[in-house]
Parts: sequence; C-alpha cells; structure tokens
Amino acid sequence: ALISMRQMLDHAAEHGYGVPAFNVNNLEQMRAIMIAADKTDSPVIVQASAGARKYAGAPFLRHLILAAVEEFPHIPVCMHQDHGTSPDVCQRSIQLGFSSVMMDGSLMDDGKTPASYEYNVDVTRRTVEMAHACGVSVEGELGCLGSLETGQAGEEDGVGAEGTLDMDQMLTDPEEAADFVKKTGVDALAIAIGTSHGAYKFTKKPTGDVLRIDRIKEIHERIPDTHLVMHGSSSVPQEWLAVINEFGGEIPETYGVPVEEIVEGIKHGVRKVNIDTDLRLASTGAIRRFLAENPSEFDPRKYFKASMDAMVQVCVDRYEAFGTAGNA
Ligand code: G3H
Ligand code: 13P
Ligand code: NA
Ligand code: ZN
Repeated sequence: ALISMRQMLDHAAEHGYGVPAFNVNNLEQMRAIMIAADKTDSPVIVQASAGARKYAGAPFLRHLILAAVEEFPHIPVCMHQDHGTSPDVCQRSIQLGFSSVMMDGSLMDDGKTPASYEYNVDVTRRTVEMAHACGVSVEGELGCLGSLETGQAGEEDGVGAEGTLDMDQMLTDPEEAADFVKKTGVDALAIAIGTSHGAYKFTKKPTGDVLRIDRIKEIHERIPDTHLVMHGSSSVPQEWLAVINEFGGEIPETYGVPVEEIVEGIKHGVRKVNIDTDLRLASTGAIRRFLAENPSEFDPRKYFKASMDAMVQVCVDRYEAFGTAGNA
C-alpha cells in the first residue's frame, strides 16, 4: 500500500531502524528494489529526481511506482519526490499522487545557488502548509551538501550546489535546525555532515573529521522528535568499482560513506538514507561484466537481468544493515 513518509518514519523511530530511500528511473531499478524488499520484508521509499522525470517522463515514473504497489500489495511504499526546487514543483508532484515531497530550500530554485535561511524557511513552510492539507509529508534540508575534505560542493549532473562552499554552510547547526523545524513544521530534516552526491565523496576512507557523525548526535539531542535524513549516502562499494574497471571502465580511486557509519547515524535519529550511486555502480558493473563474458548475446533482457540481480543484492544488504528488514 502507498503510505506517507511520516507514517513510515514514525514506525522506524519507534523501533530504532532506518529506511534506505532509493532513487528510481527505470523498470529494472523499481523491480530490484521491490524484489529485495519482498525478500527481506522491508518497507520501501522510492524517490524520483528532476533528472528521473526528464529521463522517464512523470507519467511513466508514477505508474512504475503504482505498478510496484499493485504487484507487492503487502509492502508499504512511500512515493517520494527528491530535491524539489520550489513549492510549485512540489505541488505538481502532490497532484501526481506522490505521498511525500522534498522541498530543498537550501538552494535557490536553480538548484545550484545556496539560499538564505529566511528564503529556506519561507518556501519550506509554504510547502508544508500545502502538503499537509493533502496528507502528504515534507522533507526539508538545512545546510548544503559538500566535501569537508576539499570544500567542493561535489555537484554532479546539475544536482546540488555548485563550486566552493564555506565550511559552515556544509555543516548543519543544531540550534538553527531546532528553529527551522519549529518555524516550518517539516516531517523530516536533511542535514549536512560532510557527504555529497555522486561517486566522488572522499579521496580515502573517511575519518571523523570529514564525515561528522558527531554532528548527527548533537542535532538529534537538540531535536529528538525530528526524523533526520542523510543525503549522499552511497557507500561506493570497492568491489563494484573493481568490476567496472576490470571490464573496460575507468573510474578513479574514490570512497563513499561506510555502511557502519550510517548504522551509527541510525542509532542517533537518522531514519531516511538516500542512495542512488550504489545502484548505478552495481548496474553498470554487472552489465559491463555480462557483455564482456557473453559477447554474442544481444537480448537486452539478459544483461538487464544481470543488472537487476546486482541491484537486488545491494538493496538486500542495505535493508539488512539498516534494520529495515522484517518491518514491512
Ligand atoms: O539527488 C541526487 C540523486 O542522485 C539524483 O540524481 O538528478 O541525476 O537523477 P539525478
Ligand atoms: P548518492 O549519490 O550518495 O547515492 O546520494 C543520493 C541522494 O542523496 C539523492 O537525493
Ligand atoms: Na529526498
Ligand atoms: Zn540528495
């Protein structure tokens, strides 16, 4: 059944687990996420970005998610809009039937320029008023995602802030977070703790000075009833990088957010964990390997099956690690 994010995350908080929110763009990702959820008895958050709407078209995306609900009626599904750039964008998603929207007012409506605190409060509060009137949940974001290693926003494919950020923009302030939640009424808050979108998050396995799990604890102590969201939370599996590079890919050395650090965050209020890159890496690695090992195959279902199987395994691993398994 389709449920709101609030309902799902309230249950997660009560029982102390986290829910991965996987980005979805196509049939193979959608089915992989659901097959893994079915295997592990996990609730599901699927999210669609602006890029996903551009790639698949809003009606196809909407019906992909509704098809998942129809095929797996026993699995609770939250249909979430990722990184909405304005109240208008969120309103259109609500009209399309999304049960949750993110109003990312940390950036202006170009999705690139860091916004003022006042702007963020204003657009988020207006979105909450509209969404709550429709029974739809809202995620806000305070602070800009960016690398504390390099000071770079780590923007990729036009997602996220551009260029160099101030260090204090890249770390959410606990006092400001409390004020923001009070003024906007958001159901969940995305925080900045040193992660960034995409595959290039850290140049080595991150230490506590660049991945600030301690900041999650401080924010959670200040606003214990607010569900926290970690963006840029792909772990960038070294084994999938190796497969990609073994079979013709060229991805330089890079590191993501270790699963055990996310698990530590979940102990301190993180309830939604955004993951896109890991499924992209698994899919690409599996397809490269399949085509290299089966040079005469040309039925796309064969290599898409390999891609799906790889993505299922990543989803199963996250559902189990985050304690989502068994909670559908
Ligand atoms: O927010 C970042 C997600 O990875 C979505 O990426 O805009 O390329 O679909 P995308
Ligand atoms: P990754 O790029 O780490 O998978 O993050 C995805 C994300 O935060 C989507 O909003
Ligand atoms: Na989101
Ligand atoms: Zn994000």
